[in-house]
Amino acid sequence: MKIGVIGGGQLGRMLALAGTPLGQHFAFLDPAPDACAQALGEHIRADYSDRDHLRQLADEADVVTFEFESVPADTVAFLSQFVPVFPNAESLRIARDRWFEKSMFQDLGIPTPEFADIQSQDNLEAAVKRIGLPAVIKTRTLGYDGKGQKVLRHPEDVHGAFAELGNVPCILEGFVSFSGEVSLIAVRARNGETRFYPLVHNTHVNGVLSLSVASTNHPLQALAEDYVSRVLDKLDYVGVLAFEFFEVDGGLKANEIAPRVHNSGHWTIEGAECSQFENHLRAIAGLPLGSTAKVGESAMLNFIGEVPPVEQITAIADCHLHHYGKAFKVGRKVGHVTLRCADAQSLAARINDVQQLLTAVGH
Ligand SMILES: Nc1ncnc2c1ncn2[C@@H]1O[C@H](COP(=O)(O)OP(=O)(O)O)[C@@H](O)[C@H]1O
Ligand SMILES: [Mg+2]
Repeated sequence: MKIGVIGGGQLGRMLALAGTPLGQHFAFLDPAPDACAQALGEHIRADYSDRDHLRQLADEADVVTFEFESVPADTVAFLSQFVPVFPNAESLRIARDRWFEKSMFQDLGIPTPEFADIQSQDNLEAAVKRIGLPAVIKTRTLGYDGKGQKVLRHPEDVHGAFAELGNVPCILEGFVSFSGEVSLIAVRARNGETRFYPLVHNTHVNGVLSLSVASTNHPLQALAEDYVSRVLDKLDYVGVLAFEFFEVDGGLKANEIAPRVHNSGHWTIEGAECSQFENHLRAIAGLPLGSTAKVGESAMLNFIGEVPPVEQITAIADCHLHHYGKAFKVGRKVGHVTLRCADAQSLAARINDVQQLLTAVGH
């Protein structure tokens, strides 16, 4: 079976690493000449709206998926005429736009921060009066890794904030004083069967995910699964979906969804019976889902900007390196490690080892 993937970054690469043992083959459509997934499959180097090359992808592939949510809606509509595309176009339409996303949470009774649609500086001033400060203004589309957003703390931060984000449609959200951030990675098969990984605790630095720790018997697991199920069923979703929550007062507030495999699920490669990547492929290929059970205690640390010397990382016990083969660049995700241990105490020690290494090499 051939899987077509829109985007050829590290997520595409890890999909191929998971699917190759299943006998799957991969083609990646990505305009970047150095797209790092090309080491694992065919690289169709073309723009995401290039119809000739989209047609080529559709002809070659048995099923098409994507590794980022900013794929133009027209691209998905065009491909869907010729080949099954999962997740479906509606899931993508909602997940790529923060206004649609938060409106859906509200419709489904899922708690979410207060929010307002912002089309002008006047809208913003009015929304700040209603929601209050601090608040966060975010572009409705195209934001990632904390880009395309700004925290507004003082009245003077509000002036010119709409222009600062580029005079594009935005939302304003109330600032959430959360006690923690968690994400739930879910997978839904073509026949509607749904499975969930254990909740993951996430720590962000400057809006970018830094550390994920898989939980054991998290008290909010059942609540999170209930909220995520509502979204999966509403969208008739197929594939892996990641749902980010704020933990507030012993409950959850929805932050955002990603209609794809997710950075906070990378630990599942070593830390779960069947990884998020393999389960995404099983789901879209119409295969039975694999077990989402945890194997030991796991954490994931991102390498942002550069990967520390390989001989030093591999000297750390219980440490599994994923080097994406991308050019090093400030702020860019270029690799990660999974730490998998027998118990929580040794996991904490290993996390400390990696953090010390990162400090020693100046991260
Ligand atoms: N309303 C909010 N209140 C407090 N912190 C927030 C809020 N929205 C975002 N953040 C912080 O910024 C991070 C990135 O924001 P998010 O909306 O998840 O965008 P991205 O698409 O960049 O991941 C969050 O993980 C959280 O740490
Ligand atoms: Mg996020």
